[in-house]
Amino acid sequence: MSTQQVICTGGSYDILIEGGALAAVGERVRSLECTHTLLIADAEVAETHAAVAADSLAAAGCSVAMHTLHAEEANKTMPAVESIWSAALSAGLDRSSCMVAVGGGLIGDVAGFAAASFLRGVDFVQVPTTLLSMVDASVGGKTGINVQLPSGELGKNLAGAFWQPRVVIADPITLSTLPLRERRCGLAEVIKHALIGDPDLLDVIEQNLDQILEAEPEVTTALIDRAVRVKIDIVQKDEREHGCRALLNLGHTFAHAIEPDADLGLKHGEAVSIGLMAAAALSERLGRLEGDWVPQLRALLEKAGLPVRLEAARLSEDLVARMRFDKKIQSGSHRLIIPIAPGQVEITDDVPEKALLEAWNAVIG
Ligand code: GLY
Repeated sequence: MSTQQVICTGGSYDILIEGGALAAVGERVRSLECTHTLLIADAEVAETHAAVAADSLAAAGCSVAMHTLHAEEANKTMPAVESIWSAALSAGLDRSSCMVAVGGGLIGDVAGFAAASFLRGVDFVQVPTTLLSMVDASVGGKTGINVQLPSGELGKNLAGAFWQPRVVIADPITLSTLPLRERRCGLAEVIKHALIGDPDLLDVIEQNLDQILEAEPEVTTALIDRAVRVKIDIVQKDEREHGCRALLNLGHTFAHAIEPDADLGLKHGEAVSIGLMAAAALSERLGRLEGDWVPQLRALLEKAGLPVRLEAARLSEDLVARMRFDKKIQSGSHRLIIPIAPGQVEITDDVPEKALLEAWNAVIG
């Protein structure tokens, strides 16, 4: 079991990581003095993990209504937010009520945005049930939805709000029912955190890979605890991403260019894995890479069952064009995060398009 505290201007809160923690959701929410709750659950876990959380809320004396969503990027839009607001009104939620998200990062993002805007903001609790969400999305208060681009495609997370949860409750036992592919995806974010701020964690992953992929509770709890520390440290220094929080986007600007391409069929963590390799290639092209650690990173990602190349033919020019819609772009110039060495990453402004093209070419085919 581990409890860590996040101290932010937008609210300070605990992150509880413990096998069986789902059953403690009611007690924790009750201690926030919330009596009316709306539980927003991924439809996939509505009858399992969300039902346990709902029973726990009811046992603690909270009224609880459940609203389910299908966790698909196409649903991460305004109609989903409106459906949550309507469910909240039907359930009689008022300003002292609480919304509780049970599911992965997508559910937490949409539910968090609905909580941030309903009655100008109600309490919000994150109950992440994916590795990706436990180590990243559920912590730090980023909420949001996708918005249609001029091209007709969906631009990821282009509308949203910073809205810190009142508590994050992660139960690593929920990971045992998560498909293996999703566990691998979560590992991509853990590897990202290791590269950003905990290089020794790369060795820990390497040595415990089988147990991690099997979701062995003790090993997984320790892994989440360590990966989340990297995120807490950064979020506390820069809650609203005016500076170092952008480091957490390592690999993501590349990933966001390939993730919406339905023909590629990449999940977020898989796109991030390719994005990490592209970011390393960019670092090399810019003459910033130090040491010979990239082959080890590639081997670890591959061993974890993650893609390190874009198998399908894509033009690097098209991918660079897509990067222009990423919200991390600064005044029309490309701002990217590049790894220098494990544990050392930096923000690079005005990245020339030529270097970006070369970075993409290094991971295509
Ligand atoms: N997932 C990146 C961040 O929370 O800033």
